[in-house]
Amino acid sequence: MAESIRVLLSEEEVDQRIQAIGEQISRDYRGKQVHLVCVLKGGSFFMCELAKRITVPVSLDFMSVSSYGSDTKSSGVVKIVKDLDESLKDKDVIVVEDIVDSGRTLSYLLEMLRDRGPRSLRLCTLLDKPERRVVDVNVDYTGFEIPDEFVVGYGLDYDQRYRNLPYIGVIEFN
Ligand code: IMP
Ligand code: MG
Repeated sequence: MAESIRVLLSEEEVDQRIQAIGEQISRDYRGKQVHLVCVLKGGSFFMCELAKRITVPVSLDFMSVSSYGSDTKSSGVVKIVKDLDESLKDKDVIVVEDIVDSGRTLSYLLEMLRDRGPRSLRLCTLLDKPERRVVDVNVDYTGFEIPDEFVVGYGLDYDQRYRNLPYIGVIEFN
């Protein structure tokens, strides 16, 4: 079966939106340092672009999680595959994600990170599929709300491929 990619959000649109979020975060955190926590692997492209556009001091850390349960439906119980290197104690933390879908993984993850004593904890996602939400998650910064379609690019994969596309596309099977 051949696959093709239909552009949903162009490279220019994504770049402009990330610039705007970077400016917003820089205003909101004036006089502070932000600690960005990237959820690998999907969040990595977005976090790097975002970090470059934030003008207050920034530190970065990475974690990798996998959800227990079937491959197609996340259970919401998260296993830490790679934990953060640094403590979150008294830091102003922003979790950077590629997409919020059901919200199961993130609601669990945010609870877990809150227990580590950050001064503040916010969530920034490039994409949000609100129609798919099962568990309530408070998103502080959203790039784009998109319809319920499977998207790839800018860190998002289909079977580990297409993460490197510089735009967001919908995968179509012909
Ligand atoms: P959930 O919010 O717990 O359902 O899980 C969200 C995760 O599912 C994201 O971090 C992605 O890894 C993955 N995901 C959800 N929707 C898509 C999509 O459209 N394309 C690629 N990955 C997706
Ligand atoms: Mg993800």
